[in-house]
Amino acid sequence: MTVDLPEGWNRVRRVVCPGSFDPVTNGHLDIIGRAARLCDEVVVAVLTNVSKQALFTTDERVEMLREVTAGYENVRVARFHGLIVDFCRANDISAIIKGLRAVSDFEYEQMMSQMNYRLAGVETLFMTTNPLYAYLRSSLVKEIARYGGDVGGLVPEIVLVRLRDRLGQLPEHEDPARGAL
Ligand code: PNS
Repeated sequence: MTVDLPEGWNRVRRVVCPGSFDPVTNGHLDIIGRAARLCDEVVVAVLTNVSKQALFTTDERVEMLREVTAGYENVRVARFHGLIVDFCRANDISAIIKGLRAVSDFEYEQMMSQMNYRLAGVETLFMTTNPLYAYLRSSLVKEIARYGGDVGGLVPEIVLVRLRDRLGQLPEHEDPARGAL
């Protein structure tokens, strides 16, 4: 039996995984990979000008994402600015896929999802994060890497290398050894 859809409604074929990805983590990759198995096409959309504090430029973030998703034929990486619903409209995308790590993520994500639906009828589908990555976020990875902590296993190998390149030379005032007794 086929279900008739109201005019203008699309079945979910192409979805978007939006984010800052500064940098991409194994938690992001887990969601992207699972989305790629569920949907015909996944567009990973990288928010440009995320903030002046971004560690990696948009080009670098896109480049890393392209490299780590190269194994998925149905994943594309693009950049966007402005509203995600406008990106969806322009690219015939009917749903956003988001990972939910914990209840603390839910309140904000629920607000965004309801707003995006109100703005443009774009649905948001939530996936619970793999428990292995439930505590993982890009900002923590950067902080740990900045002070020489081990982020192996939390980000893809190529991101590890880029983090080392970018953060390897700590300015003197950030040398953690200076806090030693
Ligand atoms: O990786 P992040 O920073 O948590 O991703 C947040 C992102 C990019 C998904 C979100 O901030 C977003 O969609 N920004 C685009 C601007 C927009 O559409 N804002 C209104 C949301 S209701």
